[in-house]
Amino acid sequence: MKFETIIEPFRIKTVEPIRQTTREERLSAIRGAHYNVFQLNAEDVLIDLLTDSGTGAMSVYQWAGMMRGDESYAGARSFHTFVKSVAGITGFRHVIPTHQGRAAEHILSSAMLQPGDIVPNNTHFDTTRANIEHRGAVALNLPIHEGHQPQTLHPFKGNMDVVALERVLRENAGTVPLVMITVTNNSEGGQPVSMENIRRTSELCRAHGVPFFIDACRFAENAWFIKTREPGYADKAPLEIAQEMFKLADGCTMSAKKDGMANIGGFLAMNDDALAVTCRNSLILTEGFPTYGGLAGYDLEAIAVGLYEALDPDYLQYRVRSVEYLAEKMLAAGIPTVRPAGGHALYLDARAWLSHIPQHQYPGWALSVALYVEGGIRACEIGSVMFGRQPDGSERPADLELVRLAFPRRVYTQSHMDYVAEVLLYLNTISQDLRGVRIVEQPAALRHFTAKFALL
Ligand code: F0G
Repeated sequence: MKFETIIEPFRIKTVEPIRQTTREERLSAIRGAHYNVFQLNAEDVLIDLLTDSGTGAMSVYQWAGMMRGDESYAGARSFHTFVKSVAGITGFRHVIPTHQGRAAEHILSSAMLQPGDIVPNNTHFDTTRANIEHRGAVALNLPIHEGHQPQTLHPFKGNMDVVALERVLRENAGTVPLVMITVTNNSEGGQPVSMENIRRTSELCRAHGVPFFIDACRFAENAWFIKTREPGYADKAPLEIAQEMFKLADGCTMSAKKDGMANIGGFLAMNDDALAVTCRNSLILTEGFPTYGGLAGYDLEAIAVGLYEALDPDYLQYRVRSVEYLAEKMLAAGIPTVRPAGGHALYLDARAWLSHIPQHQYPGWALSVALYVEGGIRACEIGSVMFGRQPDGSERPADLELVRLAFPRRVYTQSHMDYVAEVLLYLNTISQDLRGVRIVEQPAALRHFTAKFALL
């Protein structure tokens, strides 16, 4: 007999109370936050789906590891434990700890990029793009075209367009110092990349003599999708799949706040000896001594354990199934989402759902406000507020108006997701009454974090 209930593969040993609020209290809180959920106090949120980054629950083994943390400035035991763990999965010769993913990106960009260079990726995450542009280089997105179509089903919608990549490499010889691939592809809906696509990208890079790095934040979720969707991988362990994936690359950047199962941390890893020397020198300047980077010894221990817990098949099944479970309820209710569901998040398609709100009135933002007011749920707009303002100050609507419901790791249960579904189904009954928003005040860059809004 196959039972349908999602079994969270853990018992809960420590709990953190969350607080119910009334609709009136939430209205007052969101007004005080100028209708920007980033400005809310977390205490006023019931279910926080703003991000899966650094928001997970650690295991008893991670906490035990933290007690073993060696806080020596140089050569700490915890560093060796960390390196052994990372190298056991990635196989890379040099492992450089950083305080989070963007620090690894910053160090790598500083070491490898010159103004005018081009760095292709399936889709750059914002911080990767910002670090590349900070060097005066161009961050080029080359996703397959299905990646831009919310409703089109594709098992590996996060793939790189390798035909376009081949052309870019051929036409720009000498100005592409680095190619990256992001697994899973967060900006396109948490969609996976197939092993075949990583292999073809790797072959192209090797043929053109260009180093190939993986943005590995969600490498374990990507391995699970390969196991369950790609022919030939069903009988392989997620660890073996991850090892095979990393073997195709020359290095990686990593935010351990995702599939490192930690609340902070990251690393940069590579095989190139000379590049590693340059990166370590830059690390000493910006993060810390090479055996701790930007981290405490206890953080290194928590990550060393967490990386393997993220590869546990029972955990991965629970994780991916939880997102899919919510997605199925949306599909049944006719609420449009990016399909199929991503590994770490469900992305609501606000433009399709709230088609009466024009893009310049920010339908995704309006939906994030309504989710909070009606249900105390916090989610993140990925649409024209986030991407619409151009560097010259003009406005251009984003390709998609999405609202991301990101799942913190091992934090919420099936009944929390039932509640989220109930709120969304209720919103569906009042969706025609929802109104757009306008921006009252905004900063020049990254406006979604601090802009002030008014309801229309
Ligand atoms: N790459 C990807 C694909 C990411 O999703 C993130 C972070 C980073 C790099 C940067 O890592 O935060 O440790 O510096 N994503 C978070 C999110 C913030 O909410 O998706 P970081």
